[in-house]
Amino acid sequence: MRLRNKPWVKEYLEKNDKYLINWDKETKINLSDLFNNKKQPVHLEIGCGKGNFITNHALKESDINFIGMEKEETVVGVALKKTLAEFEQRNKEVTNLKYFNDFAEDLSDIFAPSSIDKIYLNFSDPWPKARHSKKRLTYRTFLDIYANIIKSHGILEFKTDNDGLFAFSLEEIAENKNWELIYQTTDLYSDIEALKNNIPTEYETKFHTAGKNINKLIIKKTF
Ligand SMILES: C[S@@+](CC[C@H](N)C(=O)[O-])C[C@H]1O[C@@H](n2cnc3c(N)ncnc32)[C@H](O)[C@@H]1O
Repeated sequence: MRLRNKPWVKEYLEKNDKYLINWDKETKINLSDLFNNKKQPVHLEIGCGKGNFITNHALKESDINFIGMEKEETVVGVALKKTLAEFEQRNKEVTNLKYFNDFAEDLSDIFAPSSIDKIYLNFSDPWPKARHSKKRLTYRTFLDIYANIIKSHGILEFKTDNDGLFAFSLEEIAENKNWELIYQTTDLYSDIEALKNNIPTEYETKFHTAGKNINKLIIKKTF
C-alpha cells in the first residue's frame, strides 16, 4: 500500500517513537526489551497496512504482545494514529503493540531463530506477473524465513482476496517440508466457526463488502 506523502508523518513518528521498534541493523532485536510485559507471547503481522487488524487484536488480547511490520513509513504513521485513537477512546494505554517500519526480507536478521509465537499475513501484495513470483510473501524463501523465526510448531495465518495468490501459496506450502497445512477455505465468510474470532483488515472489509470471496489458510511449523 502506497499513500500520498503525508507531511505530518515524520514529526508524528518522532514524537511517538516509544510505539516504534528501532533496529540498529547489526544485532538481533531482544524481544524481552521491547514490551513492559516481557513474558507474553509475541505475534507478528507482516504488511499490516493501516493497522485495523493488529489494533483490534491488541485491544482484544492484552495477554499477547503484537508487532505490526510495514515497509511504508507513511502507512506506519496512519496505522499508529489509528491505534492511539482507538485505545484512547477506551481509556486504555498501548502497552502491547509496536510498529516496525521495515521489510519482510530482513526478518531473519531482525529476530532470533524460534523467537516469534505467531505470524499473520493479510492481503499481501499479489505480484501477479510470473517474473515477480519471488516477491510474493508466500514464496518458498519467505516460508523458510518464517520457519526460522517462528517457535516450534508455531502457527501462520494467511488471508487474501486474490485467488491466484491463494492457489500459488497452497502450492508453495505443499512443497515445503517446514510447514503443514491445517486449515483452508476459499470462502471464509461462509465458515461460521472460523468467523467467530475473525478480525477483518481494511482490505478484507473492502473486498468482502464488494462481494468478493475471502480465502484463508493456516499452517503449522512441522518441527
Ligand atoms: C495490499 S496491502 C494490505 C494491508 C493490510 N494487511 C490489509 O489487509 O488491509 C499490503 C501491505 O503490505 C506492505 N508490504 C508489502 N510488501 C512488504 C514487505 N516485503 N515487507 C513489509 N511490508 C510489506 C505494503 O506496503 C502494504 O501496506
